[in-house]
Amino acid sequence: MPLIVCHSPKGGVGTSFVAAGLAQGLSLLGRDVVALDMTAQDGLKLYFGLAPDQRLPDFDDDVIDQVTVGGVVLRSGWRSAHSVDFAQDLRTGDLPFDGETVYIADVASTDVALAQILRRYALLHICTLSPTAMALAQLPRISPGRPLDALTGTMFVLNQLDETRRFARHATLFLRELLGENLVAQIHRDEAVNEAVGMQQTLSRYAPASAALIGMQALVTLVEARCKAGVAPVEQPEATAARAGKSAAA
Ligand SMILES: Nc1ncnc2c1ncn2[C@@H]1O[C@H](COP(=O)(O)OP(=O)(O)OP(=O)(O)O)[C@@H](O)[C@H]1O
Ligand SMILES: [Mg+2]
Repeated sequence: MPLIVCHSPKGGVGTSFVAAGLAQGLSLLGRDVVALDMTAQDGLKLYFGLAPDQRLPDFDDDVIDQVTVGGVVLRSGWRSAHSVDFAQDLRTGDLPFDGETVYIADVASTDVALAQILRRYALLHICTLSPTAMALAQLPRISPGRPLDALTGTMFVLNQLDETRRFARHATLFLRELLGENLVAQIHRDEAVNEAVGMQQTLSRYAPASAALIGMQALVTLVEARCKAGVAPVEQPEATAARAGKSAAA
């Protein structure tokens, strides 16, 4: 199932920005992509140049007119992901994660239970971090008891990197050491990210030379390779996932 789960234990690090950039990049490579906003905040569409009041069809709505930007179909998944049947539907395979379409799910940092359920069915988990003490402090919550450099189904992205900041430089070195090859991309902080949202344009249209797009491209290339290989993660669900599944199904 080509599902890619974007979730970080820390909010505000750029999970939605990375999810959107990944969706746009994979679409440019010719993939059929559905970007699923699974947050109540409903902000993923802003990185596609859409207006805040643009309504996205729900994940399981039958619609004739899709909302599509640059070939990426946008859907809201929050309501269906929090329906009583969702966990059961995933277990029985009764959800349309199939075929060649890549589904990119943007999950809120606080929605740990949903992230854990989805990760069990995902090809990949993309965990975005920022070089701040608050983000680093959340690292032990990502996969308790398992070394982060040994996770086969998780790619880490360091976003909002500003190398003029001493803490950011030290955090980068620390994360390289801790995450090894699982730290797959570093994305620079660039004010154009905010400006593009304000201008209701995608970043690649508003600022094609943005420094933030360089790291994003590296991520897209690696994820595309993983999609081609189609290797499912060998990680077993965390012990907590079973509990999370029960609470989400309840
Ligand atoms: N590389 C970057 N350079 C500059 N600003 C950035 C960058 N990445 C994200 N931002 C800004 O940081 C803020 C948070 O980004 P985003 O909404 O993607 O984070 P999030 O982790 O999804 O947050 P939330 O927890 O609220 O869902 C936004 O204002 C966004 O424009
Ligand atoms: Mg978000």
